[in-house]
Amino acid sequence: MPAKKRVENIKKLLREHSQSYLLTFWEQLDTAQRQNLLAQIEQLDFAKIDYWVANFVKESACAAISPDIVAAWSYGPVPANAEQERRYAKAGKLGRKLISTGKVAAFVVAGGQATRLEFDGPKGDFPISPVKNKTLFQIFAESITAVSQKYRAICPWYVMTSPLNHAPTIEIFRSNHYYGLDEKDVFIFQQGTLPNFSFDGKILLADKANIASSPDGHGGSLKALYESGALDDMKRRGVEFLSYFQVDNPLVNIFDPLFIGLHALDKAEMSSRAVIKTGPYEKVGNFCLIDGRLTVIEYSDLPDELAEKRNPDGSLVFELGSIAIHIISTSFVEKLNAKGFSLPLHRAVKKIPYIDQKGNSVEPDRPNGVKLESFVFDALPLASKSIILQTLRDQEFAPTKNITGVDSVETTRQMMVARAAGWLESAGVSIPKKPDGSVDCLIEIAPGFALEKDDIKEKLNQIPKIKPGDRIYLG
Ligand code: UD1
Repeated sequence: MPAKKRVENIKKLLREHSQSYLLTFWEQLDTAQRQNLLAQIEQLDFAKIDYWVANFVKESACAAISPDIVAAWSYGPVPANAEQERRYAKAGKLGRKLISTGKVAAFVVAGGQATRLEFDGPKGDFPISPVKNKTLFQIFAESITAVSQKYRAICPWYVMTSPLNHAPTIEIFRSNHYYGLDEKDVFIFQQGTLPNFSFDGKILLADKANIASSPDGHGGSLKALYESGALDDMKRRGVEFLSYFQVDNPLVNIFDPLFIGLHALDKAEMSSRAVIKTGPYEKVGNFCLIDGRLTVIEYSDLPDELAEKRNPDGSLVFELGSIAIHIISTSFVEKLNAKGFSLPLHRAVKKIPYIDQKGNSVEPDRPNGVKLESFVFDALPLASKSIILQTLRDQEFAPTKNITGVDSVETTRQMMVARAAGWLESAGVSIPKKPDGSVDCLIEIAPGFALEKDDIKEKLNQIPKIKPGDRIYLG
């Protein structure tokens, strides 16, 4: 198409969708900038954008929750009866077989920003371990190495980044020599983005020639796995199950044979791990069945009367909290993409830097617009079958979200020490305690030393006597 005609078409399109502001600085742009901006505009789906503006940007589309909402069922952390005991044993065996035959891969979503940690760089590079200060990425990599060695299998690792942190993430992996993993077994790919909007529905410009945009949320992973070629890579390798986890949780048990096995035995498409919530308002997603379909309602969207609702025994009706750990069948990702799918969008009101009509760069000091995101757990209702397996919080969930307080660097380190101490104690090692019962030393167990409690028993001769105030690293 002749260049002039192309520009005319775009101008017309923008007028029709009330987005002409995007070409405000057209006359000031050089040829390369113009091409770049046109390419960005051509990638936008304006029919969808009109819908988003009407439903999520101008309005906060908080759909009413169906009255047909009940608690979701879950497998307990330990079998509830003899029949379940047999099922757990069978699942564990199957899970181990699936790992050892290379059918399971690790998948971390690491495209978010570490804003709350005030950390300048990919969150996976945040140093967290209590003695050696290992980063989150290093801990995950060491777990993957330890699992590969234990099961004598290749366990590939898929890492999703976003345009905000892709280049630095690649650089971190390179400069750390992929933490000892084989570079060809680590697949780093980017998620997509969505444009940012002013409250009146205009797409914002980041500068005169670039649209303001942000990552499309971890729900974008399901498309990105497909579009990046990661799914093809899995097919080539024979990977059938993805162990999905967030970058902020160093306690995650990435390759849990029981969870993988139950998911496979039950022929589930997407499964989840859950913990019993600490209270009605814990900041986690809530598992429930809505109109018969498993759904997660984010804490901020769960009405108080549902959050507070109790069973006759006093427990919360909606007591299952999501810790954002899933097993996702690769066939499910493929099926979703083959037939075309879209997850609902969630609206976040944010401070978005932009360029105003006069060409001034504005760094707003209060929220001035809307970012849209999709959430991976919104794929759960699309799965033909889904299971939930409870886990014990102190064993598997220490989210590092804040610097101090709840879900912080502080609490994560404490939980890493407490879990390590618990594993040692269960093998008969004596642990110094403070009068309040908390552990009176720092202990770090490297994944290569023990992946789970039972691994400790074989290494008792390598464990020194632990005195109050010691810093013990078992690696
Ligand atoms: C999340 C979940 C919540 C769950 C809790 C457990 C949401 C909305 N909420 O909270 O249900 O109970 O964790 O800790 O997810 N990410 C991307 N790309 C993006 C956005 C995020 O890869 O575009 C990744 C982040 O890097 C991180 C994860 O997704 O690994 C979670 O993102 P975050 O914003 O930290 O979620 P939370 O709101 O803390």
